Amino acid sequence: MSPILEVSGISKNFGGIQAVDGASFSLGQPGIYGLIGPNGAGKTTMFDIICGRQIPNAGEVRFHSQRIDGMKPYRLAREGLARTFQECRVLPEETCLDNVLFAAQDKRLGGEVVQALTRSGKARRAAEAEARRLLRLINLERYADEPAGALSYGQRRLLEIVSCLMSKPRILLLDEPASGINPTLLNTLRDFLVEIYEETRIVFLIVEHNMEFIMSLASEIVVMHQGRVLTQGAPDRVQSDKSVIDAYLG
Ligand SMILES: Nc1ncnc2c1ncn2[C@@H]1O[C@H](COP(=O)(O)OP(=O)(O)O)[C@@H](O)[C@H]1O
Ligand SMILES: [Mg+2]
Repeated sequence: MSPILEVSGISKNFGGIQAVDGASFSLGQPGIYGLIGPNGAGKTTMFDIICGRQIPNAGEVRFHSQRIDGMKPYRLAREGLARTFQECRVLPEETCLDNVLFAAQDKRLGGEVVQALTRSGKARRAAEAEARRLLRLINLERYADEPAGALSYGQRRLLEIVSCLMSKPRILLLDEPASGINPTLLNTLRDFLVEIYEETRIVFLIVEHNMEFIMSLASEIVVMHQGRVLTQGAPDRVQSDKSVIDAYLG
């Protein structure tokens, strides 16, 4: 069987800066994957390429065998590829519930689920029930009718992740979900991601700096350094890999 996501020989330069330099990795089956590497390793650029925000100078990205590099983000969203951003994006004036429901309608996020929102009261109620269920899973149900601006930064990040799930993606890319999140919320986030994974069996690809968090969450880690993939494997193997240790110390 072909891998779910296959990145082959991807390169991207910005002027004289080689942000990604012939990077290859593949995600063979559903799972929670980590993408790590020192600052400037090319992780966000890799995300941007997978999500169609950047066009690579060389290489290919395949999603279920289909070539997707260079595809527009809204088309990728329809193919079931969703992402969050390193900086959190929520609508502060809208209620938490509406944030989740709007995300489901947003074409860029691939919101077929709730195109129906405007069509029938029944579909709307179903979408609302699902949104409330997701809010409950991250302990935000009590804020459902409060403006999102009332949430802490960490809670807003959780809200953004939950919003992405409304479009029922087949792969969800998270860019540093743990950044700026306190230890209690971090546990909520970890439990939530594990629960959603168990439920949906989709692919999570997570860029993360918090090693303890990602190593305890992911079943497999891809390590980037200077635009290349250094290694890919189980967390304990990756953590004891000399080239990985050198990259972080270097
Ligand atoms: N739009 C851009 N223009 C110029 N340089 C960029 C741009 N995006 C990223 N870079 C550079 O590419 C390299 C990789 O960056 P990035 O992908 O953000 O790494 P990471 O997310 O691993 O920290 C860095 O040297 C960064 O400064
Ligand atoms: Mg980054």
